[in-house]
Amino acid sequence: MPSTIVVGGFFGDEGKGKIIAYLALADRPAIVARGGVGPNAGHSVEFHGKKYGLRMVPSGFVYEDARLLIGAGVLVNPEVFLEEVEMLGVEKRVGVDFRCGIIEKHHIEADRGDARLKDKIGTTGTGCGPANAERALRKIKQAKDVEVLKPFLCDVPAEINAALTEGKSVLVEGTQGFGISLFYGTYPYVTSKDTTASQIAADVGLGPTRVNEVIVVFKAFPTRVGAGPFRTEMSEEESKALGIEEYGTVTGRKRRIGRWDGEMARYAAMINGATQIAITGIDRIDSACRGVTEFEKLSEKAKRFVERVEQDVGVPVTLISTGPELDEIIDLREAAENKE
Ligand code: GTP
Ligand code: IMP
Ligand code: MG
Repeated sequence: MPSTIVVGGFFGDEGKGKIIAYLALADRPAIVARGGVGPNAGHSVEFHGKKYGLRMVPSGFVYEDARLLIGAGVLVNPEVFLEEVEMLGVEKRVGVDFRCGIIEKHHIEADRGDARLKDKIGTTGTGCGPANAERALRKIKQAKDVEVLKPFLCDVPAEINAALTEGKSVLVEGTQGFGISLFYGTYPYVTSKDTTASQIAADVGLGPTRVNEVIVVFKAFPTRVGAGPFRTEMSEEESKALGIEEYGTVTGRKRRIGRWDGEMARYAAMINGATQIAITGIDRIDSACRGVTEFEKLSEKAKRFVERVEQDVGVPVTLISTGPELDEIIDLREAAENKE
């Protein structure tokens, strides 16, 4: 499909990084553009035996012919950005919108020094909240004002819309998740911006009429980091007994683990305008499913879970992730197209 937005349906860390990297390799988009808040996000990508935790560069970097863009809505920490660009060797194909907001030292200090943010809400301490507040007050520096970013500056909406007009495809990656949206999440235990598909489209300058597909990613067992309500949360004993333990990509904090929440998933899919669903961590429903690449080879238990997800949400499940590696996935998209 010409333009596809991928977003998180629970509290972030649903495995968007893995899904986006897989889609980039499978669909070969001309552009992969990142929306979302900023370097508070950590997308994990496991590729050729290596693990990456990406905070600024789009996870679609794994497809070497894609142009990699950071949309104007995103906050950029130049240090984190330059480090990642060097580590990945993507300097020739990465671009930063000249209007991106810039995170400076004082934003990080304000984030970490404020007990309400740090302890009550449990922010990532990456300066995003204070920087977005300053952006709203129209005091923030933009990417065009930062010398070291000059070689990367570009007009992201112009590039994306031109590519679509030429019939090329564009993959747009969201960060965070529905439950921590500033508008729709568990306020005040939320991030500093909306996180739904409409916001992600605005972040990269894609108008609503040019969005073709919205894939909402849900993990079989949702997780949450930081404080805030989590109505299907399990006790530590329960999650341990299931063999689930996760740590944050950015902060290293232990993630809280919960059970599938069909009601939340349905509501998230509605506001995101989901056209497809991706499920990650099906190997946690049944470890026998680890690495499976064909739907028929899933266990009955896993198949029943997928059916339940479709019933709860009312949108077809088209991607099923069976492990963290990129090739551990069942892609039902063609099958879904043929059904129509
Ligand atoms: P944010 O943008 O920060 O919200 O992150 P994200 O959605 O990209 O997710 P993140 O990579 O932070 O966390 C997902 C974790 O689950 C990572 O450790 C992935 O490697 C792992 N993961 C992804 N898919 C699967 C899967 O199908 N099975 C298992 N067991 N782990 C998975
Ligand atoms: P902030 O975005 O750093 O201000 O943090 C606000 C809340 O959102 C905290 O509960 C964080 O743990 C959470 N949060 C922010 N970004 C992410 C993410 O990418 N994954 C998961 N949780 C996040
Ligand atoms: Mg993450």
